[in-house]
Amino acid sequence: MTSPFHNDTMTNQVQVASAKEFSPGQRKLVFINGRSIVLFNIGGTYRAIDNSCPHNGASLAGGRLDGTVLQCPAHGLRFDLAKPSEPGRLCLHSFPVDEIDGKVMLQLDSADTP
Ligand code: FES
Repeated sequence: MTSPFHNDTMTNQVQVASAKEFSPGQRKLVFINGRSIVLFNIGGTYRAIDNSCPHNGASLAGGRLDGTVLQCPAHGLRFDLAKPSEPGRLCLHSFPVDEIDGKVMLQLDSADTP
């Protein structure tokens, strides 16, 4: 089976969507190297996080989004996707995302390189 994602092993970047088909307001769940990652297009800005709440591991893919604030569907904790890590708080694991030549490219952690 071939992967639907294009990998650039030199930069650890993986294509996760086409910019044309991933409009503002959309979200997408992708599976890369055994990880479940949720991708958001918030008003044209891309955000990507592990699909696991840092509180108790619930899926965040179906969480309610209010602006850039995502609410975990399990116990209601709220996380600002514009500030995924804040000192003294539970932090989301986020991934850099860029649009390059019409492709939405997610930057994997070096440990996740295929
Ligand atoms: S698992 Fe997300 S708030 Fe508890």
